[in-house]
Amino acid sequence: MRLYGNTIINNAEEEFGHSHMESPYLPSLGIIERSIRVSEKERLFTINPSNDSLLKYRPGQFYMVGLPGYGEAPISITSGPGEKKIELCIRAVGNLTNAFHNLRKGDSIWLRGPFGRGFALEELEGRDIIFVAGGIGIVPMRSLLKAVLARRDKFGRLTLIYGSKSPEELLFVEEMDDWRGAGMDVQLTVDKPSLGWKGGTGVVTTLIPKVETADKNTIGVIIGPPVMYRFVILSLNAKGLGAEDIYVSLERRMKCGVGKCGHCQINSIYVCQCGPVFRMSELKGMPEAI
Ligand SMILES: Cc1cc2nc3c(=O)[nH]c(=O)nc-3n(C[C@H](O)[C@H](O)[C@H](O)COP(=O)(O)OP(=O)(O)OC[C@H]3O[C@@H](n4cnc5c(N)ncnc54)[C@H](O)[C@@H]3O)c2cc1C
Ligand code: FES
Repeated sequence: MRLYGNTIINNAEEEFGHSHMESPYLPSLGIIERSIRVSEKERLFTINPSNDSLLKYRPGQFYMVGLPGYGEAPISITSGPGEKKIELCIRAVGNLTNAFHNLRKGDSIWLRGPFGRGFALEELEGRDIIFVAGGIGIVPMRSLLKAVLARRDKFGRLTLIYGSKSPEELLFVEEMDDWRGAGMDVQLTVDKPSLGWKGGTGVVTTLIPKVETADKNTIGVIIGPPVMYRFVILSLNAKGLGAEDIYVSLERRMKCGVGKCGHCQINSIYVCQCGPVFRMSELKGMPEAI
C-alpha cells in the first residue's frame, strides 16, 4: 500500500519536525523491515525505530500505533527489552489493523510510547512463575518470556500454559523449542484439536492443577481474553496463590494512551497509565476490572 508510503509520511515528518523527538507523547516514525504472516489473522512486523527512546520499554508496555487516514490503536510490544528492533504482532479485526496488514517492507508507521506500566522483573526474581496465556495474550507475554529467559538463572521453575481455539491459531510455536531449551516447561492446549495434534485439549485451566508448585514461592501471570481471567484466578487460588501473587494485564478500549480521555477508566484508575499490568491485590474492590 504505497498510499501511506515514504513520500507522504516523510513530508509530514519535515512539516512537523518530529523525527528526533524524544517525548513519548509525540509520534516517531518506524520503518517496516519485515512483515510475515504468522496465522490466518495475525502478522508479525519487525520495525526499525527512528528514535531510540522507543526502545526503552518494559515487557507489558504498549505503543499507540498510527497510520495517517486510518487512526491509532494500542498495540503491545512483543519484542524483548534490549532488542534493537521493535516487533509487533497485529490481528486484523477492523479498519486500522486491516490497513496494517497491507503494509510491506519500507512502509512507515507512527509510534507513540512506550506507554503504561509493564512488568517489574525485579519483583518476579527468585520466584517460580506460571505464565498463563490465551489467544493473542501470548503477544505481550512473549516480551516478558524473552526478558525472563534472558536472565534465566534469576528465576525458579518456569511454566507456560498457552491455549487457543485451534492448533492453527497458536502463535510463535516455532520458537517454543528454544524456550524449552532455555529451561521453561511449555504446555499447549486447544479447544478444537485437528488431526495429528499432540498437545492438550480443553481450556487452559485444565493444565493448572498439574503444575508443581513450591509453598509460597509461586506467582502467576495471566494475559488473555477477558472471559479467561476469572477461571484462571480461581485455579491459581486453588494452588495457594493469593492476590499478591497474581499479575494480570488488562485490555480496555483506549484512545489517548496517556490518561487524558477516560476511555480506559475503571473506577478511579486509568488502565493506560496505571496498567495494563496490575497485581490482583491492586484491583481489590473493583470487580468490574476482571
Ligand atoms: C493495551 C492494549 C494492547 C493491545 N495489543 C494488541 C496487540 O498487540 N495486537 C493486536 O492485534 N491488538 C492489540 N490490541 C487490540 C487493538 O488495539 C484493537 O484490535 C484495535 O484497536 C482495533 O482497531 P481497528 O481500527 O482495526 O478496529 P475497529 O475498526 O475499531 O474495530 C473492529 C472490531 O474490533 C473491536 N475492537 C476495537 N478496538 C478494540 C479494543 N481495544 N479491544 C477489543 N476489541 C476492539 C471492535 O469492537 C470491532 O468489533 C490491544 C489493545 C489494548 C488496549
Ligand atoms: S486511553 Fe485515554 S485515559 Fe486511558
